[in-house]
Amino acid sequence: MIGANQGVKCFGKRIRAATMDLFWEWIKHLATPFPRHLRDMGYVEESRNLAARQDRCRVAWRPHLECTRSLILEAADRCCRFDKALIVGSGLLFDIPTAELSQRFREVILADILHPWRVRKAVRSFDNVRLASVDITGAVETVHAAARAGRGLDVAVSRPDFFLGDDIDLVVSANILSQLPVIPNGYVAGRHHGLAPGAIREFSRRLVIGHLDWLASFACNVCLVSDLERLYCDGEDVVEREESLWGVNLPGEGQEWIWDLAPRPEIEWSRDIRHRVVGYAGFPKHAWRKRRHELIGE
Ligand SMILES: C[S@@+](CC[C@H](N)C(=O)[O-])C[C@H]1O[C@@H](n2cnc3c(N)ncnc32)[C@H](O)[C@@H]1O
Repeated sequence: MIGANQGVKCFGKRIRAATMDLFWEWIKHLATPFPRHLRDMGYVEESRNLAARQDRCRVAWRPHLECTRSLILEAADRCCRFDKALIVGSGLLFDIPTAELSQRFREVILADILHPWRVRKAVRSFDNVRLASVDITGAVETVHAAARAGRGLDVAVSRPDFFLGDDIDLVVSANILSQLPVIPNGYVAGRHHGLAPGAIREFSRRLVIGHLDWLASFACNVCLVSDLERLYCDGEDVVEREESLWGVNLPGEGQEWIWDLAPRPEIEWSRDIRHRVVGYAGFPKHAWRKRRHELIGE
């Protein structure tokens, strides 16, 4: 039998171990070099927050992460060649079936604007998995410079062309599409209080459309997973909705599911926040090109 004293000692040991773990995570985090503009804008902090939230909401997130992983593998099943897979928005690899992809493809490229220490460590066990640190919009550093020079969101968003020349067999955009404008908008809005909402909307739409155009430019199969809407819920009732893609409607029909993102009180005391998510094992590129023509006439 464990006595009361022993129980308290055990608990104390566990707390000490957890505190040490946190401390080491923090030291490793600080020791990982990230470009200054990513730290300034909040990308590094956001990655840390994502890890902490996943830890707290582990059970609630599981179905969403499993849906994403299995959709990615379904997309891989559609490939006829297994040379190179490119995964964009690999983040902390929560929703990426890294081991399975590494077995199926000769090379797997994990692309994200930053790769935290724990990801660098995790991929060391795979010989054929490579990390690419890339801002997939090509706009982030310019936004940072423009905001610091007092020019708000007055930046040209050019069409990204990363990896288009590579011979890739599968491209996956993993829960990143709606996130592309979030940090740039937040950074600029924090420095320019008079920013017109129209400017934010226009800039965000250009990033979202730019990413979809980029995906549609690959000749191979493309898998896309993205949230469509944020739902504020009271139990089963949706009390408020916010669109995630700035009025850009995705074409065709994907598989839909709900991501239980922040059960109360994670973000709000009295409401649960969920995401309506769509996933395409084969993104309809042709239908997108038609739709974007209707949207912006180009
Ligand atoms: C919601 S997370 C995706 C979750 C990720 N798949 C995982 O399992 O951890 C969004 C990811 O997009 C990345 N990201 C945001 N803006 C980016 C950009 N401009 N270029 C590349 N990655 C970006 C973030 O660093 C983050 O890892």
